[in-house]
Amino acid sequence: MIKKAVIPAAGFGTRFLPATKAQPKEMLPIIDTPVIQYVVQEAVDSGIEDILIITGRGKRSIEDHFDKNFELESRIIEKEEEALYTQIRHIEDMANIHYIRQKELNGLGDAISYAKDHCAGEPFAVLLGDTIIDSVIPVTQQMIDVYNQFQQTVIAVETVPRDKVSRYGIVGGEKVSDTIMKLDQLIEKPSIQEAPSNLAIAGRYILTPQIFDALEKTARGKGNEIQLTDALRILQKQESLYSITIEGKRYDIGNKLDYIKTTIEYALKRDEFKKPLSDFIKDIASKI
Ligand code: UTP
Repeated sequence: MIKKAVIPAAGFGTRFLPATKAQPKEMLPIIDTPVIQYVVQEAVDSGIEDILIITGRGKRSIEDHFDKNFELESRIIEKEEEALYTQIRHIEDMANIHYIRQKELNGLGDAISYAKDHCAGEPFAVLLGDTIIDSVIPVTQQMIDVYNQFQQTVIAVETVPRDKVSRYGIVGGEKVSDTIMKLDQLIEKPSIQEAPSNLAIAGRYILTPQIFDALEKTARGKGNEIQLTDALRILQKQESLYSITIEGKRYDIGNKLDYIKTTIEYALKRDEFKKPLSDFIKDIASKI
């Protein structure tokens, strides 16, 4: 049973500067909802109620977002805006959320090592706080189903164009089914020639507690940071790792172009924006 999730959200977000100079990229809105709320919702929709968010300097607004705001609530009640009230209460009651601060930004692997005490001895899900995945079945749920089958580490992957493999962590291994693979290779940003496949690690993991020992043994790698992929490679020597090719579309909102695309795609799904936004897009597209 996977009962806990860890959401690393402490990173600098340098790719999104200057917007991220004084606010977390995880709080950037997709229309009217911060990215991290979509991530928490995915965990909750996958049956997880206990969430640890790894935060850091300048990330207070994440805690405030999921906290109660009595003053705001009473103002909304006075205005008799029932739908808005329900929406605000939903955010406060979404899950049992805990926070821990990563003292120094030493990379994703280091961020996850802060979850050791909280996740003591049990497997847990990891959802990157700057990545949202649009899918019919929540991706974390898809991964929990694979975990329940093998009781081992599960890594979400997505198919990327061959010529883009050098931007991602790429996996290779032996096919178990159409979507599941038993891994024997994990390579961070390989060249096209080196890449064992075009399946890229997609920001969601189910990890076993053995990851913490592997993280302790992991030396600083790319960017002088403790990389989760390096720890997974150590772990792979002791236990089997599986990947699942996710059914869904991933958006890395830490990247400005993806952020813009996500906003447009999500807005087109909303009844209130669909027609006027489509008309606007067609109009500007005809002039490009
Ligand atoms: P990224 O790899 O996107 O790194 O992190 P970053 O530092 O946030 O962004 P850039 O590259 O400088 O623009 C993926 C996720 O892991 C978290 C981030 O907050 C993000 O949600 N993270 C990253 C940490 O929690 N701690 C770290 O030391 C690094």
